[in-house]
Amino acid sequence: MTSLENNVENKILVVGGGRMGAAIINGWLAKGIAPESIFLIDQNQSVLDSYKEQGVNTFINVENVPISESFSVFLLALKPQIILKSINEFNRLINLNSCLISVAAGITVSTLRSLMPNAQHVVRVMPNTPAMIGKGVLVGYIEEQKSAFIDLIEGLFSSLGKFYWVTNEEHMHSVTAISGSGPAYAFYFTQCFIESAKKLGLPEPLAQHLALETIIGSSALLDQSDEDVMQLRENVTSPNGTTQAGLETLMSDNIFMNQLLACCEAAKERSIQLS
Ligand SMILES: NC(=O)c1ccc[n+]([C@@H]2O[C@H](COP(=O)([O-])OP(=O)(O)OC[C@H]3O[C@@H](n4cnc5c(N)ncnc54)[C@H](OP(=O)(O)O)[C@@H]3O)[C@@H](O)[C@H]2O)c1
Repeated sequence: MTSLENNVENKILVVGGGRMGAAIINGWLAKGIAPESIFLIDQNQSVLDSYKEQGVNTFINVENVPISESFSVFLLALKPQIILKSINEFNRLINLNSCLISVAAGITVSTLRSLMPNAQHVVRVMPNTPAMIGKGVLVGYIEEQKSAFIDLIEGLFSSLGKFYWVTNEEHMHSVTAISGSGPAYAFYFTQCFIESAKKLGLPEPLAQHLALETIIGSSALLDQSDEDVMQLRENVTSPNGTTQAGLETLMSDNIFMNQLLACCEAAKERSIQLS
């Protein structure tokens, strides 16, 4: 991430400061990217105000961006439906030396090229929201594997978490279903766990603490242990013990596994529909 730290030469334009745009900008600011190198366009003044205070250049619409500005990175963080309808207006902000990066689910490189004809270098990146605390998983796809932008992209996105490339654009649908949408599944599992704790009779704050801290602690153990996920599960499961009794129900007939698979398949299908 050294290449961009406090370097205002590489100007980054972010269009859309919603959940994902904000997660990315917050992550970059936390990693020491100079706020004055970031330019944000968002149609909500309330979104712009907090960034303006931090020194980010903010604009309520594209017309307000000075014609003389030139950007190394153009990060598109709008909803796919909005991109398909109205991003042509941003085309003038892209020049030969800009890299267009889209974090939108589903929208392909060829669609982006047709919507933004000025864009010579187009990259897709699928982030997830833990990026805002540097714990994201981010996956990139680029047509030209030897692009001059590879180092810049890796620097920008590995500062937000773990960064991986895929070489087949089709894989971006599965990536979206797994790591892009995945935090929501993890949060839903946690929510169900809290509800279960309450139904077992624990008072509300304790139910919340126990379920939440168990998820957080288990994730940290998973991260730090040399043992794999199955071994860690077996370590907790004594024969004929309480955990085994619980797991036998959770794992019976693969109902949970199949439901999770159906969830991921539905997300992938939606990504395909958006493309
Ligand atoms: N959220 C996630 O976890 C996640 C994960 C991976 C990828 N993504 C991708 O990230 C992209 C953005 O998602 P999001 O959840 O951040 O969406 P979002 O919260 O709706 O953020 C988009 C922001 O852009 C603003 N906006 C809309 N049209 C505009 C325009 N023409 N000019 C300027 N600003 C405009 C929106 O304002 P309004 O609210 O007024 O419309 C909103 O503030 C999507 O393509 C999504 O697929 C999201």
